[in-house]
Amino acid sequence: MAGRIPQAFLDDLLERVDIVEVIDRRVKLRKSGKNYTARCPFHEEKTPSFSVNPDKQFYYCFGCGAGGNALGFLMDYENLDFPRAVEALASSAGLQVPREPGRGGPDNAEQEHSNKALYALMEQVATFYRQQLRQHPQAGRAVQYLKQRGLTGAIARQFDLGFAPPGWDNLHKALGTTPAQMALLKDSGMLVENESGKLYDRFRDRVVFPIRDQRGRVVAFGGRVLGDDKPKYLNSPETAIFHKGRELYGLFQARQANRKLDRLLVVEGYMDVIALAQHGISNATATLGTATSKTHLERIYRLCPEVVFCFDGDEAGRKAAFRAMEAALPCMEDGRQARFLFLPEGEDPDTMVRSGGAGHFQALVADAMPLEEFLFESVARDLDTSSMDGKARLSKLALPFLRQLPEGVYRQLMFQALAQRTGLDLASLMQLEPGPPPAPAPGTSYHPDEPPDYPGGEGAERTPPQPRRREASRTRTDGYSNMAQAAIALLLHQPAIANLVDPAPLAELDGDDVGLLRELLILLRRRPESNTAMLLGHWYGTPEGELLSRLAGQERLIPAAGIEQQFVDTMSVLARAPHHSKLAAQVDKLKHTNYAEVSELEKQRLRELLQEKQRRDAEGHKPRS
Ligand code: UTP
Ligand code: MN
Repeated sequence: MAGRIPQAFLDDLLERVDIVEVIDRRVKLRKSGKNYTARCPFHEEKTPSFSVNPDKQFYYCFGCGAGGNALGFLMDYENLDFPRAVEALASSAGLQVPREPGRGGPDNAEQEHSNKALYALMEQVATFYRQQLRQHPQAGRAVQYLKQRGLTGAIARQFDLGFAPPGWDNLHKALGTTPAQMALLKDSGMLVENESGKLYDRFRDRVVFPIRDQRGRVVAFGGRVLGDDKPKYLNSPETAIFHKGRELYGLFQARQANRKLDRLLVVEGYMDVIALAQHGISNATATLGTATSKTHLERIYRLCPEVVFCFDGDEAGRKAAFRAMEAALPCMEDGRQARFLFLPEGEDPDTMVRSGGAGHFQALVADAMPLEEFLFESVARDLDTSSMDGKARLSKLALPFLRQLPEGVYRQLMFQALAQRTGLDLASLMQLEPGPPPAPAPGTSYHPDEPPDYPGGEGAERTPPQPRRREASRTRTDGYSNMAQAAIALLLHQPAIANLVDPAPLAELDGDDVGLLRELLILLRRRPESNTAMLLGHWYGTPEGELLSRLAGQERLIPAAGIEQQFVDTMSVLARAPHHSKLAAQVDKLKHTNYAEVSELEKQRLRELLQEKQRRDAEGHKPRS
């Protein structure tokens, strides 16, 4: 019989997970001010009143009053009992749930505090290595090495660089003073055990880099040889407090150095982060010899809206960049940006900034390739996109990636960009998207936004909450809303394009955003000289004004060329939309009624609509071979 779960573990678990991540994986959240919102999964609602507070780590629904922490959410949402919810949460955080065998004696108390003790130990280790860099008779070699790599004492202190002296037992002797300390040194991976059971120092004769978590606690170390020996770098193993796939080297220092971060760089090495900081570029972080994960990116995007990946320009660099792009796609909510900087072969940020200076490096960053360009360029790499066949292949290859994008204006614009590149019709590209998933089987994903491979757990007795059905009509309205927002973004960027189109057909479409687009067009007819600021001023202080400011701020939604064509295309899809949506409504109705009950009049009307749609489609596009 499993024992009680120690309270200290629960505290640690809740400290370790992020409620925003936990909920967002199940119910897509949108950022709204300091908090995140969604339509409440616990009651039916049209507008979001479900709110998640990242600072206080709790959620609350203003509509139905549901609320609690990450564990409570899991219990309610997945219908789990407490221990199972703890198991689920712990496994998502890569943790084993410890159990108290009995009622809890002094042994257990010791175990409960093991993570705290581990953090404390790592701090002691960092201090020890730092001292060795100052005092050890051999430290001169390490200092010389760091100097030769262009680092000053100040930057070495900022990153707490240290020196693990040569020898098998320096750390062992210095800190392994009690059996408890020895056990901690082993658990932390700082001591390694050989086949005969003897313990020795993991890091020997290396410069060491303490790795801090987001809160600044030392959780692991990296160590570099002073010469050309192999392996060049050693890293701490995964431990109870260190998971490579989540931590980013330098993130803590980047946050310390910047009150507000506009952008974070992701580079490959410890030395890249430090060399950039040495040159005043204090927003670099590095993955720890692993690929960039979605967890990394979610962490970054919660702090700032833009990430720039720096990679080698060689084949390996492009492959790594492609993997980073794949991880980024599901994170690309509106307002977020990812770009790619490819350095010349054989260079890394360290060598670049040392030879070219900070200004040059910043210019390269400013000029980095946007995700959209990198995606289309990579996918189209071996295709002849001037041929019909090449275009068809391009759309087939690109669509699976575009489908990873969360709903929003950015997704819409990416589909538009694909339409433009392939000459295919936007509406039909979007229609190729898979429809809503079939009714969920028990124990499998039941949220339509969730990737189908989400591990559903084996609990067969679970009754999933009512799946939130998305009626066809609502999805359609959302589609037009995205399109309208995309058109508005273009219009705000270049108001003069208003005169290319006719606002009249929009009157037939419902939806606030379509309405706003129409009003903008009408206003620009009356006052063609209006610029972006004037348009924003017109709606200042209203919810529409907020939307307009947001859209105006999204420069990245604007293509470098072909703005006019894109605008005209979007408007023509919208102009045809009323007919599509009437047709859809009729078809929907037919699906839900007994065909015998449909009146002759309705059947006649449906035939007319279909004919009209065919005629308009034929007008809208020249036939393509
Ligand atoms: P690089 O080989 O690009 O090293 O490894 P670097 O940072 O440019 O090294 P310097 O400039 O020669 O000092 C990038 C990262 O890959 C991991 C480390 O995290 C390193 O920072 N790595 C590399 C290892 O873990 N082990 C290795 O042997 C090499
Ligand atoms: Mn390097």
